[in-house]
Amino acid sequence: MLHVITTDIFDRERLDDLCHLTTVTRRIAREPDGLRFLQQLLPVRRAMLYFTQPSTRTFLSMNNACHILGVRTSEIRNPDVSSEFKGETFEDSIRTFAAYVDMIIMRTPQPGYAARAADLMDDMDRRVPVINAGSGKDQHPTQALLDIYTLERSFRDSGGIEGKTIAMMGDLKRGRTVRSLCRLLRHYKDIHIVFIAAPGFEMEPDILAYLDDHEISYEQSDRLDDYLTSLDAIYVTRMQTEHDTSGESARVDLSGYSIGQSQIDRMKPDAVILHPLPRGAEIHPEIDDDPRAAYWRQERNGLWIRVALIASVLEASEQILSAQAKFL
Ligand code: NCD
Repeated sequence: MLHVITTDIFDRERLDDLCHLTTVTRRIAREPDGLRFLQQLLPVRRAMLYFTQPSTRTFLSMNNACHILGVRTSEIRNPDVSSEFKGETFEDSIRTFAAYVDMIIMRTPQPGYAARAADLMDDMDRRVPVINAGSGKDQHPTQALLDIYTLERSFRDSGGIEGKTIAMMGDLKRGRTVRSLCRLLRHYKDIHIVFIAAPGFEMEPDILAYLDDHEISYEQSDRLDDYLTSLDAIYVTRMQTEHDTSGESARVDLSGYSIGQSQIDRMKPDAVILHPLPRGAEIHPEIDDDPRAAYWRQERNGLWIRVALIASVLEASEQILSAQAKFL
């Protein structure tokens, strides 16, 4: 694996392998000796975190995932302090980063920029891997990986993701996490997706066509109430207000698209509630301590799957797998 730009590089076998590597890695990391082992895996490698769009979890988990593996990091989070401010082109900036580091992890408000960076690297002698940490409204592949891992772990006693009914609710039109997750879910048999959105915020036709092409069953609704009792999982997202052109998010009455005590009371006892975070009013903190609320576990899973992903990209995964017997 060189670049991680879209979810398309993952088939079911790769997903299973990555989930397994993640579980092995976090088990190794339970003990100080294991953490020291991970730390010495890639100490001569350096990564650039280029995040020109706000980020808390993705940035911190990528940064800390690098540190867990001994990879040193440098960062640009604000284009005003880089030469882009002086008019340097995006391509020239990426070329410059690649001169100094062994991996570029990037998030941009524009779609397609991570792919442009990867294409540029493919034309160079020193091909530095690029990881997409969110590109505009389009893709967020590493979030989808941690979402799959969280679903798999949550369903480990009930046969895994296959056969489950999974809802996605919120700003489906402009949320990149749900788009990427749909693309990975096609690798799981007999699933049914329920898209629940306020009028005007429905899932985009390109993803619906993708699901049709892969014969994934789905339906669309604007009524959460009709589905609460039958869902195995619900993936809730916030309104993506940063993409508003005329305050359209504020006009949505979120009361029909949020989960609090009265909604969770009607859900299955082993249902799973996910959210990529940050949350707004769509998930009430009163349900945070319910075992079905999986979003804080999901956030933590994001760290470990990124450790496993970076280890795979920088070719340290075999070392982790062969060391497991020593630590487990
Ligand atoms: C998401 C993102 O930035 O796309 N958050 C995240 O990566 N944890 C979702 C969001 O901001 O709504």
